[in-house]
Amino acid sequence: MDLISIRDLDKKQIETMLEAVDKTTAHKGKILATAFFEPSTRTRLSFQSAALRLGMNYIDFSPELSSLRKGESFGDTIRMMDGYADVIVVRHPKEGAARLAAEAAESAVINAGDGGNQHPTQTFIDLYTIKKLKKKLGGLRIALVGDLKHARSMHSLVYALAMFGNMLRLVSPAGLELDPALVEEIEGKFKEKVETGKEMRLNDVDVLYVCRIQEERFADPYEAKRMKEKFRITLSTLEGVKKDLVILHPLPRIGEIDPGLDKTPYAKYFEQAHYGVPVRMGIIDYLLGR
Ligand code: CP
Repeated sequence: MDLISIRDLDKKQIETMLEAVDKTTAHKGKILATAFFEPSTRTRLSFQSAALRLGMNYIDFSPELSSLRKGESFGDTIRMMDGYADVIVVRHPKEGAARLAAEAAESAVINAGDGGNQHPTQTFIDLYTIKKLKKKLGGLRIALVGDLKHARSMHSLVYALAMFGNMLRLVSPAGLELDPALVEEIEGKFKEKVETGKEMRLNDVDVLYVCRIQEERFADPYEAKRMKEKFRITLSTLEGVKKDLVILHPLPRIGEIDPGLDKTPYAKYFEQAHYGVPVRMGIIDYLLGR
């Protein structure tokens, strides 16, 4: 079994995988490969840490030191890794690359982010964190704020949050809105009305989920810089919010959350990032089976 997109899963499967997080078993002798064709701190290291904590070993593929430099194809590279590892974790700038890898490999393939498309394991961390902090996964009002056009973590997350029956408010700078076709799809499929706008209305919100401007996906770096300067959550943004508001962010943050917020009770993004290890242990355990 592979994990490529949240869209491949139903509610029951997501719930089962979340339940596996706190009940993992050891997988001694198994090997996990991390194959990252784009930078990462959290996803790559937490997968490696998760493998070690499950009694596994890991190998790390470095594109710049590999035979890709001699012209070897992505497909052949994955076919090689298939013989070296039981789980292959792939991050790639091209949408669809993880699915291509899953077609080339017998081993379990996990999508660690494919371009602006999907980041399903981040969504599992987000859902796990929300459940831990709010004691439920549905019936919450959740504001998703930032570059909703390019952020793969948001594309996976909005789908899952709507599936679990949450009220979504999407707030993005002009030109960085979520694809209207995706909004229409989730409204039709999950019968949830999705609010969209540019105003940061937060007084009735249970979870504020922020993401950065995804500069690497802009054709024009000056446009990205202009957007970044306009978009920042500060203490004054939070005036009048609910006392138990939770602020989440997939990280890295690049200025969109004022570090002055870190010591407030709302800031849960570092706690969220640390759940990356147990959640990814649960995902590996689920995919390898017992
Ligand atoms: N949230 C996330 O995917 O972080 P990294 O890019 O550091 O892996």
